[in-house]
This record gives sequence, structure tokens and C-alpha cells, in this order.
Amino acid sequence: MADVNGLQHGSPRKRPRKTDPTNRVVVVLGAQWGDEGKGKVVDMLAGSSDVVCRCQGGNNAGHTVVVGDAEYDFHILPSGIINSSAVSVIGNGVVVHLGQMFDEIKKNEAKGLKDWEKRLLISDRAHIVFDFHQSVDGLQEQERSKDTSGTKTLGTTKKGIGPCYSSKAGRHGLRMTDLLGDFSVFEQRLRNLVDSHKRMFPVLTVNIDEEVEKYRQYAERMRPLVANTISYIHKCLMEDKKILVEGANATMLDIDFGTYPYVTSSNCSIGGVCTGLGIAPQYIGDVYGVVKAYTTRVGVGAFPTELNNEMGDLLRTRGGEFGVTTGRPRRCGWLDIMILRHSSMINGYTAIALTKLDILDQLEEIKIAIGYFKKDGERIEHFPANMDELADIEVEYVTMPGWKQDTSQCRTYGDLPENARNYVEKIEELLNVPVKWIGVGKSRASMITVF
Ligand code: GTP
Repeated sequence: MADVNGLQHGSPRKRPRKTDPTNRVVVVLGAQWGDEGKGKVVDMLAGSSDVVCRCQGGNNAGHTVVVGDAEYDFHILPSGIINSSAVSVIGNGVVVHLGQMFDEIKKNEAKGLKDWEKRLLISDRAHIVFDFHQSVDGLQEQERSKDTSGTKTLGTTKKGIGPCYSSKAGRHGLRMTDLLGDFSVFEQRLRNLVDSHKRMFPVLTVNIDEEVEKYRQYAERMRPLVANTISYIHKCLMEDKKILVEGANATMLDIDFGTYPYVTSSNCSIGGVCTGLGIAPQYIGDVYGVVKAYTTRVGVGAFPTELNNEMGDLLRTRGGEFGVTTGRPRRCGWLDIMILRHSSMINGYTAIALTKLDILDQLEEIKIAIGYFKKDGERIEHFPANMDELADIEVEYVTMPGWKQDTSQCRTYGDLPENARNYVEKIEELLNVPVKWIGVGKSRASMITVF
């Protein structure tokens, strides 16, 4: 029945029609235990991006980007900061040590970084890493080293990342917005936070008055950089700007999906992109997994395909697998499809960047792990949650013939030796994800685009 206005009762009312942007956010994630070479992939994509974001972690990650003669070193800054036409965003999921961020900026300024303050935005929701978080990180590692029950040390970088995320989860952390608000409130909360840590760690010494003064000054330096990055990114999306998210750390170091407890304290997989930037899942487009052509791992914890022999030494030497800051040798092993399937299932890679293929150039034959078995012969279908189980498995391998040829000058897929292509195609077949780029050297030019 129609009313006096001619409207049909019960007919649907006019609803707002949602308009979606046509572009999607591009994400680069480490697919293994880190050090896969994400830096080069991000650098390649950052040049054509309008916005480059970090969504998790702190300055415990790091990559080097070489531009001409300059070698920039980034730990907390998104590597897009060197692109003068891109805005770099440090999202709400990141934890930031302000002193070390300013040091990093200063170092890179000396190498030629300019006008960064016009292109850097930091979320008002990002948490602050304090010096005492870093001291606590060291104290916790010391305590773990005395633990005889098995965990031992986690091999943290002692950058205070874990303790800062603990403060965040404990709901007494301090954020950028607190720093820029009423400073007397910030000061009181900082004093309380220090006191609570001192109660937990009586040996902790903090010069709180000095600390307060330092932050009073940081507040003014930070004011122009802090923003509501959620609405900023959303606006950019609606304006069809190209947005790139650079994952730090890697999936096997993810606090939920990684080899817990030998992990970092954030979600370094795809979920961290949504929660660490405030991006809705439907706006995520391509997710590129960066996969090293073999596997490396830093520190302790089970590593099924580890090569404790000459082959491992060869990969380490050829691949330069030594920690950038610590110089510690990385553990090396064969490529592990069980890890990559786990990582791909979680992140939904649309394509893979396979790095460091050139490191395998001299090998007679190359193995790929394709299955895990318990000692009694029972197949383990999925990547185990239990680290004792992972430490006690038999690995099934396929063996591929090597190519025994230098690939470092190859620039197209067709230039690669047949056996190198077979290796790449075997990985695609086992993972059911296409390989889009192949790294055959350190330089920007030595990245083959497959499609
Ligand atoms: P994290 O963020 O700390 O996990 O590191 P990352 O994944 O960003 O690794 P990074 O970019 O530091 O790369 C590791 C090293 O590998 C760097 O020295 C790169 O220059 C080098 N590298 C990257 N790709 C290739 C490649 O295809 N071949 C060779 N030979 N070296 C490469």
C-alpha cells in the first residue's frame, strides 16, 4: 500500500552505495626466517609507489638499499623514504625508539637523504620504546640463559621490542599521542611505567629525571611528524594512490605462526598489515612472498633442513650469511617446502620473489625438503606447532641436478640455464604459486622479471 508520498511501505529504503577504490595495497613479506632479501624487492617496488608503510616490528629489522654510490641503512624508516615523491608511513603496529630513529635519520642524511620531514608520517597510536625496555630485553635474555628447562636465550636483538609490546599488551604502554598530549600526564605515566619495571627487575637503573627531560624535547620534534595515519592511508586509497607495505622480520618469526618461542613479538604475516595500519582486508591486493633459494636461520631453535657440514659452510660463505650488526654466522640449509606451504597458506601469496638463486650456482645437486615424518614413519601433514616435535623429525627431499654455471649475468628468464629453470619451476609446482622475480645478484639490475 502506498502512503501519501507514493512510497511503498515495506519497500527497501534508499541505502548509501559503497564506492570502492580500484587500487589495492601491495604487500611484501618475508616467507622464511628473515634475511630473505626483502630490501631489494621493496626498493624495486618503492620507486613507483606513492606511499610506503611499515606496519609492525621496530628497529630490530634492517636492510640496506644501494642507490648509485650511496648505501642507505634502514631499521625503522620505511625504505621508501629515499624516494622523494613518496610518503613514508610508520603505522600504529610499529614500536619506535625515538632516539635511535633520529640517529638513523642523521646517519642517512650524511649519505644524502634530504627533506625526509616532509615525507614521514608516524601514527599517533604507535607505541614508544624506551631505553629501559632495551635494558629489560637484556636482563630477560640473561635470565633465560640461566633457565635449565629448555628455552635458553631467544637471541633477541636487545632493541627493547619484546618488552615494549609487553607494555602495549599490558595496557600501560605510552604512545605518540600521549607524548603530544598533556606532558605532565605523560611524565607521570612514564614514572609509573619505570617504577613497575623496577619492581620486576630490581637491578634496573633508570635516570628518570633525565629521561623525562629528553622526552619533553622529543615531543616538540615529533609534533609535525605524528598523524592519524589510518585516515591518511584510507584517503590515499580513495585517491587511487599506490600503497606499498614492507613487512619486517618474517612469517616464521611471527608471534602466532612462527617457531614460538623463538620468534619476534609482532605479527609479521599478512594480519599484521591490517592491524598495524588500519587497512581493511578487502583493500589488500598483491601479496609478494620473498623466498631465499635456500634457508637460513639466526640463533637457536629447530631447523629441519639445516646443513651442519661443508655444504652449509659453502652456502654461508657464498651467500654472505653473517648477521649485519652482530657478524654472527647464520645457520644454513636446503629450501623447505613445508615451511613455505605454511607461510603461503597464512599469507596467500599471489607471487614469489625468489632471491639469491646465484648462491646455488656451483652445486652439483640441490635438495628441496618436501615432507616431514615422525621417527616412527608417520607423515606429518602440517608444519608442527610443537618445537620438540619439529626438532625430532625426518625430512623427505627431492634432489634436483644443479646447473654449475654462473647466473649472475642472466637478465631474462630464458638466459637462465635449463636446470636453474627446472629448480624454479619445481618450487612453483610444489607451492602452486608463481615465481615473479628471480634474484641473481646484489644489484638492482640483477633481478629477473619472469612475468
Ligand atoms: P631482514 O629485514 O633483516 O629480514 O633482511 P632482508 O630480508 O631485508 O634482507 P636484506 O635486504 O638485508 O638482504 C640480505 C642480503 O642479501 C643483502 O646483502 C642483499 O644485498 C643480498 N641479496 C638480496 N638479493 C640477492 C640476490 O638475489 N643475490 C645475491 N647474491 N645477494 C642478494
